[in-house]
Amino acid sequence: MISRDTIEEVKNRIDIVDVISDFVSLKKSGANYKALSPFASEKTPSFFVVPSKGIFKDFSSGKGGDAFTFVMEHEKLSYAEAIRYLAKKYGVEIKEDKQSSEEQAAQSEREGLYILMNFAKEFYKEKLLRSEEGQSIGLSYFRERGFTDPTIQKFELGYALEGWDHLSKEALAKGYRQELLEKTGLVVKKEDDGGHGQRTYDRFRGRVIFPVHNLSGKVIAFGARMLGNDKNQPKYINSPETEIYHKSDVLYGLYQGKNAIRQQDNCYLVEGYTDVISMHQADVENVVASSGTALTEQQIKLIRRFSENVTVLFDGDAAGIKAAIRGIDLILKGGLNVRVVLFPDGEDPDSYSRKVGTTAFQAYLKEARQDFVSFKASLFAKEAAGDPIRKAESIKEIVGSISLIPDPVKRSVYIQETSNLLKIAEAVLLTELNKLLIAERKKKDKERLREDDSVPEAQPVEDVIAPAKVDAQSLIQYQERETIRLLLNYSDRKLADQSVAEFLMHELDDVEFTNVTFREIHEVYKQGLVKGELPGSEYFLRHGSEPVKVAVTDLITSRYDTSQHWGDKYNIFIPKEEQVLDQLALTNVLRLKFRIVQKMMEDNLAEVRRAEASGDWDKLDEALTVQTGLKQAEQELAKELGIVVAR
Ligand code: CTP
Ligand code: MN
Repeated sequence: MISRDTIEEVKNRIDIVDVISDFVSLKKSGANYKALSPFASEKTPSFFVVPSKGIFKDFSSGKGGDAFTFVMEHEKLSYAEAIRYLAKKYGVEIKEDKQSSEEQAAQSEREGLYILMNFAKEFYKEKLLRSEEGQSIGLSYFRERGFTDPTIQKFELGYALEGWDHLSKEALAKGYRQELLEKTGLVVKKEDDGGHGQRTYDRFRGRVIFPVHNLSGKVIAFGARMLGNDKNQPKYINSPETEIYHKSDVLYGLYQGKNAIRQQDNCYLVEGYTDVISMHQADVENVVASSGTALTEQQIKLIRRFSENVTVLFDGDAAGIKAAIRGIDLILKGGLNVRVVLFPDGEDPDSYSRKVGTTAFQAYLKEARQDFVSFKASLFAKEAAGDPIRKAESIKEIVGSISLIPDPVKRSVYIQETSNLLKIAEAVLLTELNKLLIAERKKKDKERLREDDSVPEAQPVEDVIAPAKVDAQSLIQYQERETIRLLLNYSDRKLADQSVAEFLMHELDDVEFTNVTFREIHEVYKQGLVKGELPGSEYFLRHGSEPVKVAVTDLITSRYDTSQHWGDKYNIFIPKEEQVLDQLALTNVLRLKFRIVQKMMEDNLAEVRRAEASGDWDKLDEALTVQTGLKQAEQELAKELGIVVAR
């Protein structure tokens, strides 16, 4: 927790022009400044800074705010991170409020790891450029791969000398503790059989070094590639998981590429370190690597902070494609738009960009880019040509991917497209899609029910309403009865600008009461309102049918007890109504509508089941759409009522 004083101090010191100038080149324009938007690509400046007010406004993206907002938006930092950044920039000492001693210890341990990793990075860099061995082996390898000096600097590449302890010796001499060296994974510990206790040695030896940066540019891990072709050694050795390095949360190249990803609104995804770097050399900077494995959910979320579009670059070898395709399903599920670029056989982004040069490479990325689902569909279409069994499998495969896309509109576009590509009727694909969606929905329902079991005590008693599935019809009737009760007892009481009766009748004029008795009473009120004279309770006692007489008597004499009874039965809280009549009338209307919607959902769900059982997929699709609409109405009403319903 950063203290208030610190935040105030930072606020006092910042100059918005100075802050933004670190990221954007501003031009003076009268009293203000303008520039090309850093959040969108554009040709005429629409980004303005108003120093007198300490704010910026970006008319391209609609973003705007103060210096904190700018740093948060531009660097994708949290509020606290933005404060830290600005405090550092202006030399404000950060004072923390009440951090527990464990938190402090963990924090300072992480700081220690960062510092040591930074030391190691500098050490490897120095050895690459200044040592005889580094130059003749490491640097010449990078040169061979075509890496330029600026590239080597940008990625802070380095070299680890041959030998067991160059790094550890230097680190220990500089006062870093052995324990910290082990925690960073820079040294490896090995049990010594000779009875001399433990022995440790440098993890990276005789290899070129690729530092891995976190989003704020700190080094958190290293990848080390061997040189030459010793078959007994792994090609790459990577840092292990540590306190500061969680492999599944990190993307190589994101630190160097994040601005370009945001500006281009697209993120290229490649296999590894060298592909990322080669792309930068070809002036394509919006690129990250997952380091040879499929993307994790966290990595997908990370990309999403910068762009919703991912373009996966595939090596041109057929065996690799099928394997890579599997990993892409998770990206679709994450709600990102996925495109692919397939390189010619035997080429990867690294080799291909060097082979054809920057201009042709960039052109290829544009021309060869295709939508993932269409790509997958045409891939399977080719394979399945003339083989009905393979064709059926293909449909499952492709529709499986489509079913993962969260946006229903996108799903239906893809179904149409796949129908064209595979020459299969849309209805057939829809059938398959609905099967998968229903199965998924059922699975979710089951999970939800299981979760529901474990939480009931946690909810406030007044606000829990029995779920619709219990007895929607009688809940509707309860609410109808409440409406009639309010009409009978308070019809001409004034609310804000109308009477209770006017309010209720107006709100419920499209509602048909289900209970015959209540409907009869309701009808009389409707007519009365049109005529301009509302019936009193005596009217019903004189002219009503037998059941109406009974109901009205009951409702005007024992209202509180009756309500209490229902209240207990359904766990509904009945307030002291005289004082809260306006709220009561409104709540009653909302509750009645809420119950009606729940009943409709119940009925519609039966419709869904019937359609599913009889294989009527058009009807099923329609019923599912209706259900979604009803669910939304339910959620909205619930929100207004302030009650909790299952999602
Ligand atoms: N990789 C890894 N560990 C390995 C092999 C590969 O982490 N044992 C990752 C690295 O990020 C690497 C990427 O997968 O950059 C691609 O592998 P590869 O193309 O084999 O590595 P390169 O260094 O590009 O080798 P080459 O020059 O043969 O293409
Ligand atoms: Mn490679």
